[in-house]
Amino acid sequence: MAQDTVMSKAPFERLRAVIQEKKNLQNPLIEILRQAQEIFGYLPIEVQEFISQEINVPISKIYGVVTFYNFFTMKPRGKYTVNVCLGTACYVKGAARIVTILEETLGIKMGETTPDNLFTLSAIRCVGACSLAPVMVIGEDTFGRLESKKQIQEIIQKFQAIK
Ligand code: FES
Repeated sequence: MAQDTVMSKAPFERLRAVIQEKKNLQNPLIEILRQAQEIFGYLPIEVQEFISQEINVPISKIYGVVTFYNFFTMKPRGKYTVNVCLGTACYVKGAARIVTILEETLGIKMGETTPDNLFTLSAIRCVGACSLAPVMVIGEDTFGRLESKKQIQEIIQKFQAIK
């Protein structure tokens, strides 16, 4: 679904307040970007340009930081991020198959968001639950010993039901 590119003013006012508060820190950029992502949910180029003007840092530097750290995203995310662990233990126990099942179930590829903006499919590294491998994390919930398509579909359906 096409994302609305017209952004309302209120979030920019909140971001301006954050910048005022943080800009005198020794290295404020990452903290400002982190809070900007909390406000907007992602970091589109309009937000990066706004920060660039407010703190007088070239847009190229801001873009470089946003694209370097994988916890920053320039694409809107769904309400729930389905994180599949691709750490070694999970990989050995079939994480790639779990990714395929999720791609089929959600109808999207890794890194994409469903058209209803409910789910984003993402990969993470070891979350320290290797004994439960293969593992996926949705919000604060960790699901382990994933095996069947049916089991994974039921988990997804539970999140669809609560929306
Ligand atoms: S490798 Fe997946 S939880 Fe450790």
